[in-house]
Amino acid sequence: MSRPTLAARGTSPGAAGRYGDNADRDFRMLIGGDWVASQSGGTFPCVDPFTEESWGRIPLADAVDADRAVHAARRAFDSGGWPQTAPARRAALLRKLAQLMEQNADELARRQILENGKLISEMRLGVDVLVSSCHFFAGLAETLSGMTLPVSIPNVFSYTVREPIGVVAAITPWNSPLLLLAWKLFPALAAGNTVVIKPSEVTPTSTLLLGELIVKAGFPAGVVNIVTGFGIPTGAALASHPGVDKIAFTGSTATGRAIAHAAAERNARFTLELGGKSPNIIFADADIGNAVNGVMAGIFAATGQTCMAGSRVLVESRVYQQTAELLVDRGRRIRAGDPLDPATQLGPLASRAQLDKVLGYFDIARNEGLELLSGGRRIDCKGFFVEPTIYGNVDNHCRLAREEIFGPVAALIRFEDEEQAVALANDTPYGLAAGVWTENAQRAQRMVQRLRAGTVWVNNYRLVSYAMPFGGFKQSGLGREIGPDALHEYTEVKSIWIDTGNPVRFPAG
Ligand code: NAI
Ligand code: MG
Repeated sequence: MSRPTLAARGTSPGAAGRYGDNADRDFRMLIGGDWVASQSGGTFPCVDPFTEESWGRIPLADAVDADRAVHAARRAFDSGGWPQTAPARRAALLRKLAQLMEQNADELARRQILENGKLISEMRLGVDVLVSSCHFFAGLAETLSGMTLPVSIPNVFSYTVREPIGVVAAITPWNSPLLLLAWKLFPALAAGNTVVIKPSEVTPTSTLLLGELIVKAGFPAGVVNIVTGFGIPTGAALASHPGVDKIAFTGSTATGRAIAHAAAERNARFTLELGGKSPNIIFADADIGNAVNGVMAGIFAATGQTCMAGSRVLVESRVYQQTAELLVDRGRRIRAGDPLDPATQLGPLASRAQLDKVLGYFDIARNEGLELLSGGRRIDCKGFFVEPTIYGNVDNHCRLAREEIFGPVAALIRFEDEEQAVALANDTPYGLAAGVWTENAQRAQRMVQRLRAGTVWVNNYRLVSYAMPFGGFKQSGLGREIGPDALHEYTEVKSIWIDTGNPVRFPAG
């Protein structure tokens, strides 16, 4: 078996070249407008998944730091005037932030790449999306409104307004730390909430850089706070803090469940964007070449570390052999290498923990006797690389077809007809996304209606826009992010009744 070519790694530029001033930097976190160390003085390093080298010292926040950040956000909300700030002013600040992100696009991309190994080619696009999303939410800030409703009671004027919920804790993952933060932070700010961000311990510094731009844009102190620390204790402290009114979370289904439990104790609001095991369904009448491209993008982009990864590839029997061969051939020609090199097609996994998890699934597959078509091993070099991996004739009930792996691992599953395709696609605890490949418009529409998933793509995969809601059915989450109603997840509706002349009677009648 030929192995994926690893781009010439050359002579390492050395920590100073690759990480610049950040190699030995003491980072600070943002609380109440001040850049501070953790109260304990503890720190932890960032690890570059390509070199396995540590760089920077990040404040190790604990529950005490989390509490300070919540108090700062509370003050900014309760007495700092942020909820009362004119929508046009909030929009102007967001537009200023968008401009600063544009000006600092290279550094934002670079920070994230050195934390999680995402490809430079993807990140360039990624920062563009950050900027355009920020403008979109600025627009929503200016148009957020209530309704005037006909209640059919004479002499009453009745209307609703949408008010911010309060303090929002945004707990974010490592696979796309800036974008998945943007989907929470921008709508929260647009609607007048204050925010405490807890980025993943794997990717704190890209969020800290965004924090610098937020301060530069002129957001008042305490409106945005950042605490850097681990899920336990820091994230858990935020989730259970009585001063936090809403938790916005993206990450694993297990952690999402823990957050929902913590929130339920005080009926705090929460939105959850969780895992997936999304089917990418190829019918025999599809444009197979295009479908194969879609499968590659679905499972190998971002090294498979996306919630919407098309990890179950359902293929109609008649084209199974042809599709499998094409996929294996394409998979073997993927060029792995330095994520900072624009020619690289596959970066490392983001962390040693994620590498161990994916290698664990290779063992499970071996023990379950799965048919390995290509890959299935760590790439023999420095960095958290695994081979693009494809298993054939996978039974939808085995662990590789049921559990989220979050790596470049595709399970090919054979089906005979449309009915069986629907049954297999929906036979999963998840429901985040699905892809359908067919040239038959009626079949496409039937599939769209029957798939139990928050997003369905026909003849494409992984399209996302701030204008379209995103979120999951079933265990893939609760609530929706982005889209025209995104601000609604960050507001409470207040119903207001003004009597214009009815004498009050007691008892009624
Ligand atoms: P995780 O869900 O544990 O971590 C996500 C965020 O939650 C991080 O900021 C983490 O510090 C925080 N966190 C962890 N435990 C917490 C708790 N008890 N209370 C509050 N916050 C907590 O994900 P992890 O462990 O990094 O990755 C494990 C798996 O989760 C991955 O292999 C993947 O399958 C899945 N995952 C899914 C993501 C998605 O986009 N849906 C993103 C990241 C991970
Ligand atoms: Mg975890």
